[in-house]
Amino acid sequence: MTEVIKPKMMDYRRHLIVCIGERCSPNGEGQALYDQLSNKFKQAGLNTGDLRVKRSRATCFGTCKSGPLICVQPDGVWYYDVTSEKLDRIIAEHFLGGVPVADYIYHQVLETTQ
Ligand code: FES
Repeated sequence: MTEVIKPKMMDYRRHLIVCIGERCSPNGEGQALYDQLSNKFKQAGLNTGDLRVKRSRATCFGTCKSGPLICVQPDGVWYYDVTSEKLDRIIAEHFLGGVPVADYIYHQVLETTQ
């Protein structure tokens, strides 16, 4: 019988998911962007503390155009065509400043009144 072990996870403020699928980034741009996250987060102080950003990869968001695509939760913000330079702005304005970068958003969760 396989032992069931409860996983552990460090606290985080936001979760950034990068699509590495070939339909939105056919030349590996999604994976290349993901590979930059560790260093960029360390430089910005987002690898620890109250604003820590957890990072993960996914293979398809179902919106396969103009990648790399990234999704930021729990904010419900989805960015497209994210280059290294655009990611720097997202880190500064969204993750550190708390204001999503409207110029790069292709979808945003609806506000609820409940
Ligand atoms: S392959 Fe990236 S959204 Fe489908």
